[in-house]
Amino acid sequence: MAPDLLVRRARPQDAAAISCLNNVFANEGQMLRRTPEMVALAIDDYVVVQTAAGGLLACGALKEYSPSVAEVAAVAVSRSAHGMGLGRAIVGAVEGLARKRGIYDLFALTLQPEFFAAIGYLRVDRARYPEKIRRDCVGCARRFACNEICFARSLMLDEAARAA
Ligand SMILES: CC(C)(COP(=O)(O)OP(=O)(O)OC[C@H]1O[C@@H](n2cnc3c(N)ncnc32)[C@H](O)[C@@H]1OP(=O)(O)O)[C@@H](O)C(=O)NCCC(=O)NCCS
Repeated sequence: MAPDLLVRRARPQDAAAISCLNNVFANEGQMLRRTPEMVALAIDDYVVVQTAAGGLLACGALKEYSPSVAEVAAVAVSRSAHGMGLGRAIVGAVEGLARKRGIYDLFALTLQPEFFAAIGYLRVDRARYPEKIRRDCVGCARRFACNEICFARSLMLDEAARAA
């Protein structure tokens, strides 16, 4: 990632820019739509990549489902910055937030399987995450035609591997 870019926690004043970035891809059916109000309510869960001039190039969020399980959600990188490592950096920052909160079991439901595979996530059956199915999937219009693929990473296993 370019040295003049800053990865940081989001602030309340970022909500409109995050919603805007998210909804570029929501308009293309690649992500869920999120209004500035929705983002503001969850702002403590967001991380962003900021340019030296202050603009936002990328965002992502940690969506908690239980004290030990969370989703890597709402990952979006401005199209002008694709392929520069910002997606990887955002997911790394979301993982850092998860570690701080003592959450070690992360998953993502995605239409970008190659991205999650490239950054070390493993494809798993979504049935492993009944919390997600109960909270979001059951009421979703696309429940029976969902084409999102589930990926997961155990931060605990990562740490055990590093220590070994
Ligand atoms: C998916 C997305 C977040 C990737 O962001 P990015 O900044 O371009 O990704 P990075 O540059 O960090 O790439 C990390 C790795 O993933 C790979 N990768 C990223 N997107 C890929 C794709 N569409 N197909 C194949 N590989 C991909 C890169 O080649 C790289 O691998 P490498 O390190 O082995 O070279 C970005 O394309 C995006 O915002 N897409 C639209 C929104 C979206 O679909 N978000 C996911 C919602 S869960």
